[in-house]
Amino acid sequence: MTSAPTHAKGLEGVIAGETEICKVEQSALIYRGYEIADLAANASFEEVAHLLLVGHKPSADELKHFQAELVAERKLPEPVLNFLKTSGDLVNHHSAVPMDILRTAVSILGHLDQDCQDNSPEANLKKSKRLLAKIPTIIGHMQNSIDRRDFVEPDANLSHSANLLYMMTGEQPSEEAVKVMDVSLVLYAEHDYNASTFTSRVIAGTLSDLHGAVTGAIAALKGPLHGGANEAAMDMLAEIRNDIGHENDDAKIDAWMQTAFANKRKLMGFGHRVYKNDDHRAPILHALGRKAAEARGPEFVKLFELGETVQNIMETQKNIFPNVDFPCGMTYFTMGIPVPQYTPIFVASRITGWCAHIMEQHANNRLIRPRVAYTGPDLRNWND
Ligand code: SDX
Repeated sequence: MTSAPTHAKGLEGVIAGETEICKVEQSALIYRGYEIADLAANASFEEVAHLLLVGHKPSADELKHFQAELVAERKLPEPVLNFLKTSGDLVNHHSAVPMDILRTAVSILGHLDQDCQDNSPEANLKKSKRLLAKIPTIIGHMQNSIDRRDFVEPDANLSHSANLLYMMTGEQPSEEAVKVMDVSLVLYAEHDYNASTFTSRVIAGTLSDLHGAVTGAIAALKGPLHGGANEAAMDMLAEIRNDIGHENDDAKIDAWMQTAFANKRKLMGFGHRVYKNDDHRAPILHALGRKAAEARGPEFVKLFELGETVQNIMETQKNIFPNVDFPCGMTYFTMGIPVPQYTPIFVASRITGWCAHIMEQHANNRLIRPRVAYTGPDLRNWND
């Protein structure tokens, strides 16, 4: 061992590897050298996906070819379609949630991908593009099944973000909605060694396959301490509205927050293991979402005003700041997206970061196997 072992619960502060893909610092969030505000303002999600997966900013021709590859891969094979036809029943009448359905659908896609057991860079890149293209179709068909309606087929004339929105409802999305969705996917795409990405690297580090690593990452992202927080943040705001009514009475909101503090309740969408003040992504999405709310109507503006009051209390009284999931919850609610699809949409974006890390791990692998401090009983004999 070259350096002294570091013992930190939750690996807090431990440098667990190296990556060329992303840098998450209090000062900046960078994808392969490009700062997140620059990307959010100037790059489409398809361009960012190319940057993360292929490794560089695409030329106009490369982007056109990449987009055509994704459009060609949007359709799902029969066994996945058959499973998704049952997904509405599994969600409406059993215990499945959309993140579980998505996890299973990705697993079935692995069984049907002729490159599944091939971890070569070429095969991994092909599989990454197939998953990137197919996950919006899985989300769309799953929502169609939950809504008890026929499947909406992918529209080859729509961009990645527009098609994702279209497939859930069958309605052509507005330009504004597509823009907000596209920026949210750029913001969600990658975030270095977060729990789900680290999960994918641990699985890839055993030389297991990309679909298996993505399946594990989806399970990790589902948790409310991680990606599931965007749904939990909206559920929390709905709970506050349910408790105090829809008139944003500051005194009632503050009283609700004091009760939450007294109960040591974790408020969803706030705090971060790395960012100890603002998450660089949160203000970008908040501004876009608030604009969408102003266009949608007063009820939605009131939701953002409630969120801003909650945020202000957290910042001034607890010095805890919102992460990207807090504005995401309010924004996707304003866009009419069903709450249980918020984290699956996070997957539709983070599949790019996960696959970039899985490819990086396979290309320069070392099994990830940390040590642990034993705190169990001292040595003893079985027959004593
Ligand atoms: C994502 O890692 C990534 O990069 C993730 C992500 C990505 O892009 O991949 O950024 C996406 O997962 C964002 C995080 C989404 N999760 C949530 O919003 C869930 C709520 N947040 C907390 O559970 C918490 O902030 C974590 C889990 C996100 C981070 O927690 P840490 O680093 O383990 O910090 P902690 O829980 O030890 O908190 C330190 C203190 C504690 O107070 P004490 O017990 O020491 O008195 O701050 C308090 C916590 O109670 N605190 C909170 C809080 N977050 C921290 N108190 C109330 N509400 C919160 N949200």
